Amino acid sequence: MIQQSETPAEIGVKLDGVVKRFGTVGAANGVSFYLRQGHLLALLGPSGCGKTTTLRLIAGFESLDAGTIEIGGQRVAGPGLHRPPEKRRVGMVFQEYALFPHVNVWQNVDFGLNKLPGDVRRSRVGDVLELVGLSGLGERMPHELSGGQQQRVALARALAPQPALILLDEPFSNLDAGLRVRVRAEVRSILKQAGATAIFVTHDQEEALSLVDEVAVMLNGRVHQMASPQQLYRQPVSREVATFIGDANFIPGIGHGRHVESLLGTLETQVAVEGPVDVLVRPENVEISPAPSDAHSHRVCQHLFFGHDQLVTVQLSSGETIEVRLGPAYTFAVNQPVSVRVRGPVMAYNS
Ligand SMILES: Nc1ncnc2c1ncn2[C@@H]1O[C@H](COP(=O)(O)OP(=O)(O)OP(=O)(O)O)[C@@H](O)[C@H]1O
Ligand SMILES: [Mg+2]
Repeated sequence: MIQQSETPAEIGVKLDGVVKRFGTVGAANGVSFYLRQGHLLALLGPSGCGKTTTLRLIAGFESLDAGTIEIGGQRVAGPGLHRPPEKRRVGMVFQEYALFPHVNVWQNVDFGLNKLPGDVRRSRVGDVLELVGLSGLGERMPHELSGGQQQRVALARALAPQPALILLDEPFSNLDAGLRVRVRAEVRSILKQAGATAIFVTHDQEEALSLVDEVAVMLNGRVHQMASPQQLYRQPVSREVATFIGDANFIPGIGHGRHVESLLGTLETQVAVEGPVDVLVRPENVEISPAPSDAHSHRVCQHLFFGHDQLVTVQLSSGETIEVRLGPAYTFAVNQPVSVRVRGPVMAYNS
């Protein structure tokens, strides 16, 4: 994963074999990844997989048991080294915004800039407030702002000292669904405009896939795959990752290089496989159509209509069920015989 061609200057952040234990709990079990400067990464994984711990290790709030961490090409943690948080040039945005409630927006953003000369400081605060679209609201108190505005103040405060890296831990989870979609798009464009390197922690897949340049899937304290959202979805490296990202059906098959024989016919594969495999079939890559009935038919056993699409569960003639995602146009009846076609190429994993 770590390419030789990366020069230290291009590396936004790099973790190598990072381990953190809390008593007998391994919260980080050898976390390794690197992120280029100016890129946005989502750290995605189930509750308890070690996401917050990883951010806290990067920020310096926890010390590691093994491994190394570099920020902007400089080592900040490793054997015998623990640079304190204030020396790491890291900005943090938390779920609960953590604005200072008794000072106004301007003073909240100004907070981390006390080492700068007064005029630089004033123009910096003005610039970041403009960047987050809150120029006129410097005098407001935090409780006089909407949730989305408070989130933008928190972001402005993190950006003001021009950190090498911004860490955001579930930054949108306090916002209601509609606002959340808007605010996260805004935050993405603000970070991109600022040229920031940033890591978002989330357990919301849609958020991860739609927001960032790269996604790292973390399971049990390790990064199992880091890739672009498209590649992660299309080519998960394992059955575990495939199950975690999006909806996944698996059907048995026998691999013969670049194709698999399965009960849904011969399917082309994305990578060569041999022997018994589980074939990943995404619900949206299956087509069904009404078929004449016979004793060996695949049959519809359930359908859920959502408006923009529908989810149809089909019981295959072999007894397994698969889920199929379709447009809203056609209504399938329960028990209706159907023919099933999978659009490939597919991923398959040795079982
Ligand atoms: N200070 C601590 N003391 C003991 N155990 C801890 C501590 N912090 C975290 N853990 C444990 O380490 C593991 C990873 O926790 P972490 O908070 O990193 O998970 P997470 O991926 O952020 O989960 P969530 O999505 O629920 O926020 C969990 O099993 C947790 O209970
Ligand atoms: Mg967490």
